[in-house]
Amino acid sequence: MTDSLLPGHPFIAYQDGELCVEQVRLSSLAAQHGTPLFVYSKAAMLSALAAYQRGFAGRQAQICYAMKANSSLAVLQVFAQAGCGFDIVSAGELARVLAAGGDPAKVIFSGVGKTRAEMKQALQVGIGCFNVESTAELDVLSEVACSMGRQAPVSLRVNPNVDPKTHPYISTGLKGNKFGVAHEDAVPIYRHAASLPGLKVVGIDCHIGSQITEVTPYLDAMDRVLDLVIDIEAAGVPIHHIDFGGGLGINYNGDTPPEADALWAQLLAKLDARGFGERQLMIEPGRSLVGNAGVCLSEVLYLKPGEQKNFCIIDAAMNDLPRPAMYQAFHHIAPVQIRKGADTLYDVVGPVCESGDWIGRDRSLSVQAGDVLAVLSAGAYCMSMASNYNSRGRAAEILVDGAQVHLIRERESVFDTFQLEHLPA
Ligand code: LLP
Repeated sequence: MTDSLLPGHPFIAYQDGELCVEQVRLSSLAAQHGTPLFVYSKAAMLSALAAYQRGFAGRQAQICYAMKANSSLAVLQVFAQAGCGFDIVSAGELARVLAAGGDPAKVIFSGVGKTRAEMKQALQVGIGCFNVESTAELDVLSEVACSMGRQAPVSLRVNPNVDPKTHPYISTGLKGNKFGVAHEDAVPIYRHAASLPGLKVVGIDCHIGSQITEVTPYLDAMDRVLDLVIDIEAAGVPIHHIDFGGGLGINYNGDTPPEADALWAQLLAKLDARGFGERQLMIEPGRSLVGNAGVCLSEVLYLKPGEQKNFCIIDAAMNDLPRPAMYQAFHHIAPVQIRKGADTLYDVVGPVCESGDWIGRDRSLSVQAGDVLAVLSAGAYCMSMASNYNSRGRAAEILVDGAQVHLIRERESVFDTFQLEHLPA
């Protein structure tokens, strides 16, 4: 019997009471590799990518995986081999793309605070585009490029000022946040960019936020961006590509985001209707490509009944899974082996010494110490945001491909966590 935990995610499902990723039982992975352990399904990543590829069939479009969502080399390799480019935000991410076999020409470099050194490295390897976020950054980039005898391809990130209706910490396209340039300032800034000797204007980009589950904010943002393209081109600056950012949400807890192909059918219809159907398109999806392709396995250490709350203390913590503590985010928690017996209501918490170290609240579970739980939807913004807080080594990672199991990252030892430190003599 196969029983899917999240609708539309056939790659992580129960088979005869055992939770499996593709053809591999998670209980055996936990026994062999220990916990906490991240496990990713390659097929789930490729299937999420395929929805975008279907959406863009027959169009000039480049999908640049926003690797901040999960920057493990093997994950990057999956997307590089599938033809993706990458949206990066640091020289560290650029180095990872190159190490994973990614094509630098398909890299776009986002972020409000690129350093001169980072600009230089990106120019040296010939990235596809710098997504610039301020006039000051344009000036510095031009200077750096000139000093190398190069021209930097640039796009300006504009704030369409639409409400993405998501968590305020992950909403980015509204006035009053640090990202992008204001819609009304865009034309003069484009003129300025076009006048700088070290720059070549190639595009325009926007990003309105993350975990967006509605179509309307995208359609509104597209209208705003296309209005600007018309104005910028009227001012004599041609725009070669339009980059619509990332942001499509996933199902964490009954969320119903549109499928990528359905979303793009609507967006492309608008582009066609407004006469921009032939334009080169780019997108920067992160979460929607990897989020529901991964789980984090964790062992139950102790059950601690209490007067007001029962606690289920597990060996994964906020350093491994920071989203609940940071955004009050919900992740399903499911046993890897179904145990018969009455459910009890627990707060599932980690060993870190903070009350904010919770992974799930008021969860109905039938568990005993020693059982292994899977925290779902853990493929995006979990391992990439993991820390060593409380001197905890970071978890190991596994990539499953059919029946094949690849250890793609070893568990960090305590020695690893302090090897760059020195004791004064
Ligand atoms: N492009 C830019 C310029 C971005 O800032 C982001 C995400 C993306 C693309 C990818 O967005 P996505 O497709 O993943 O929604 N740590 C938070 C999410 C932060 C997103 C930051 N920017 C979380 O765990 O929910």
